[in-house]
Amino acid sequence: MKIFKSIEEMRSACRAAKRADQRLGLVPTMGALHEGHLSLVRAAREQSKVVAVSIFVNPTQFGPNEDFSKYPRGFDRDCGLLEKEGVDLVFAPSVEEMYPDGTVTWVTVEGLSDKLCGRSRPGHFRGVTTVVAKLFNVVEPDLAFFGQKDAAQLAIIRRLVRDLNFPVKVVGCPIVREPDGLAMSSRNAYLDPQQRRSALALHRALLEIEELFHRGEGNPQMLICAGKRIISQESGVRLDYLEIVDPDNLEPIPQTTWGQPPKLALSAVEGAVQPSVARPPHNALVAIAAFVGTTRLIDNVVLNLT
Ligand code: PAJ
Repeated sequence: MKIFKSIEEMRSACRAAKRADQRLGLVPTMGALHEGHLSLVRAAREQSKVVAVSIFVNPTQFGPNEDFSKYPRGFDRDCGLLEKEGVDLVFAPSVEEMYPDGTVTWVTVEGLSDKLCGRSRPGHFRGVTTVVAKLFNVVEPDLAFFGQKDAAQLAIIRRLVRDLNFPVKVVGCPIVREPDGLAMSSRNAYLDPQQRRSALALHRALLEIEELFHRGEGNPQMLICAGKRIISQESGVRLDYLEIVDPDNLEPIPQTTWGQPPKLALSAVEGAVQPSVARPPHNALVAIAAFVGTTRLIDNVVLNLT
């Protein structure tokens, strides 16, 4: 496993792999690796010949009062885990290497970036899309792996890739959970034992919504209320948001469109009939964010509406 701290060296190692016609998969991370990250690495290992992992705690996606300086870091441990997974290339640049002149050039996916976490963390997704675009430019991967755990991030990156024509296939990977249901997160390390128990309320709320939905409750407002009730019963947890949205554009789904077949509209081509732009979504993303003490956690489930 080769470890690079400089953009130039990482780029030439990646180009060498690609010259040999080897499919290159990238897993971007901020380190403090857990089984969730490693599931992405394993997916990359299966689908690519050369696997690159980036470890970079990206300052531009943290707000001024957020946890950038105390974000867990454990580079040697992370490298040990990646070596065991058969990773080929690790890219671990410094902040100076990635942003030598600060940042005046940003990549923003407008519209989507101020939804869900973007609303409570202004500028967060702009930092994510900017660093991901930079990583794509350094590594030039064929495939890039992201977790469904950060569902809004995944939607925004898919849109980034589409809109800017990055020649990258984005692969979404399922959420990995602890045995008791808590979604794995580097930030779980901040929780004390009492908070760790309280944190389960997020998953409980999602399970309740899922169950009500499967029992036939089709009103998103009722589902949201049921989820909020579970959260309010856990005194150590303060809800940030609980929303039911279209997983592609992160817009709330009006109840009237749940489960309806796509509307048909005449397209500009004479006589041709195509689905209209306002096609009802097939899935609903139930996304939750909540503070447990000062730690902000997120989780989600996807409901199949068809
Ligand atoms: P980080 O939080 O380290 O997560 C790296 C990747 O691991 C993301 O794609 C995230 O969705 C995925 N991941 C985290 N926990 C997971 C879990 N429990 N199950 C499945 N996948 C999980 O997300 C970031 O870093 C950054 O925003 C980044 C994309 C690296 C840009 O800086």
